[in-house]
This record gives sequence, C-alpha cells and structure tokens, in this order.
Amino acid sequence: MKALISRALPEEALAIARTAADLEIWPGEVPPPREALLEIVADCDGLLCLLTDRVDFALLDRAPRLRVVSQMAVGYDNIDIAACTSRGIRVGNTPGVLTETTADLAFALLMAAARRVTEAERYLRSGSWQTWSPMLLTGPDIHHATLGIVGLGRIGYEMARRARGFEMRILYTNRTRNEAAERDFGAERVNLDTLLRESDFVSIHTPLSPETRHLIGAPELAKMKPTAVFVNTARGPVVDQRALYEALRDREIAAAGIDVFEVEPLPMDDPLLTLDNVVLLPHIGSASIATRTKMAVLAANNLVSGLKGEPLPHPVN
Ligand code: DGY
Repeated sequence: MKALISRALPEEALAIARTAADLEIWPGEVPPPREALLEIVADCDGLLCLLTDRVDFALLDRAPRLRVVSQMAVGYDNIDIAACTSRGIRVGNTPGVLTETTADLAFALLMAAARRVTEAERYLRSGSWQTWSPMLLTGPDIHHATLGIVGLGRIGYEMARRARGFEMRILYTNRTRNEAAERDFGAERVNLDTLLRESDFVSIHTPLSPETRHLIGAPELAKMKPTAVFVNTARGPVVDQRALYEALRDREIAAAGIDVFEVEPLPMDDPLLTLDNVVLLPHIGSASIATRTKMAVLAANNLVSGLKGEPLPHPVN
C-alpha cells in the first residue's frame, strides 16, 4: 500500500505510518501545490493531510484507490466529508490531544490583547519609552471580568477553566447545554445577543460550518461593548474579517487577539496589519512540541487503521 503524508512529521509518527504503507512524504514547510497533490494521490491508498490541503470531489476523482483520509487537526472544514463518505473513504481527525494547548494560547491572546503586550513591546523597541507614566499603555483588567465563550465544547471548556482561575464570570453559547461547565465553573448559557452585550471578552471556539460562517459580522461586533476584547483561535471564516478590521479601526471594540484568518497566510497588505490594537499570530493554537507530536501520532494511527480496513481511533464519518 502507498500513502501520502502531505508534510514532514515527527519520526515517531512516520514510524507508525510505515508499518502499513510505503510513504511519500512531501518535503519542506509549504503545502504541496494543488497539481502536485492531485498527481501524487492518484496511486495512493491513504492520505495523511493538514488543514492546508483541500480534499474535495476533484481530488477524490483522481484517487480511485483512496480508502482513508487522516487529518492532522481537530477541525476538518478543508475536507468534503459527504464526498468521502459517499465513496466509502474513512476520515479521521485528532481531537482531545490539543484541547488544553489551544486553550492556553487563546488565553494568552486574551491577555496579550487586553494588556497591550505586543503594542507595548513595539513601543519599547522603537525607543519611544521615556519614563514611567500613570496612564501609559493601560488596558482593562482580566480578573473578575466577564468572558463570553462562543461554542463551549472541549476547548471552550478548558478556556472556562482558565478564566475561573482569574475569577471571571463565564457566559456561553452552545447548541446544547454544557452541564459540566455550568457545574464546574458556574458558566451561564445565554443567547448570542446577551453574550455579546454583556461580555468584556468574547472568545470563539466553534468549528467552521455553513451555520457558523460569518457568525460574527458587523451587526454582532456593534453589539459588543466599546471596551470589549475579541479573541479568535477557531477558524478565520467564522468572523467577517473586514467587519472586524472596521470595528477595531473605529474603536467600536477595544482590541482583538487573532490566530486564524479568512485567508492564510494573512496577506501582507491586509489592513489588520496597520492596527495597533490587534495581536496577530500565524495559526499556532496547538503549537506546543508535545501536542503537535501527539497530533501527528494520532493521525498516523488513524491512517494505519484506515489502511487496514479497521475502525479509526478517531473517526469523523
Ligand atoms: C485544528 O486542529 O483544527 C487547529 O486549527 C490546528 O491545531
């Protein structure tokens, strides 16, 4: 059997994948160009891909032998699941192992945006710092403030745990009640409108789907407090990025911390880059060494199970 691994992975994961297939590993740091991807999958039985690889009908048409698509990420909006299912192709992802690491980064962004960490560092490095000054680079308090979590699943739950450490009040929206979060952290389930109006911090933790695309746009941003800080570590297209830029520019909200974008990498002429009140990161929510290794190992295990025709440890379909 043959499998394509669409980017170099830790050796631990490759060793697992090698037990079931000959591997073609796409070299380097950037994704295979579309044409190369389509060419290589033509004789592959398995594909271990990343969120940067689009797996759609066109790709499946070119890969008649494909029996498993293993995504090294929890989100899988780059994969047409229905198309895979209709062809009997199993799809797996890597939930669980990245939950706390991603919540850590979301909370780091929340703090950095509120306390103006990167702006302050730029200020110092530029030689602008003249003296200690009473209101220099002041921001809102995080402790005892209200955090609104949009989508309280695994990562949202860990975000709530971190917020409780700062004695924050926690509001959330979710399709279903999260009784554990209510019991453990006193989280209150409210509608999106209430969450936006009452929260000092709003953090997005919902997957991208047709229902959540542009869930946060100009009308939603307008409901937020002018002092509010907005955080997105989920998926860029959940937010209308132009509307976010305008809300930050016009100080309709105070600040934002953003790890994910509508187009990645963020084009260097994106207007968000002109603003001081936004912290911008290159989609590194799960980027701890341990977590990325666990994700790769889990993705390799999904791949191997799929190649053997066995149930995947973490199936999507
Ligand atoms: C995911 O897993 O979906 C992240 O965006 C990458 O860790």
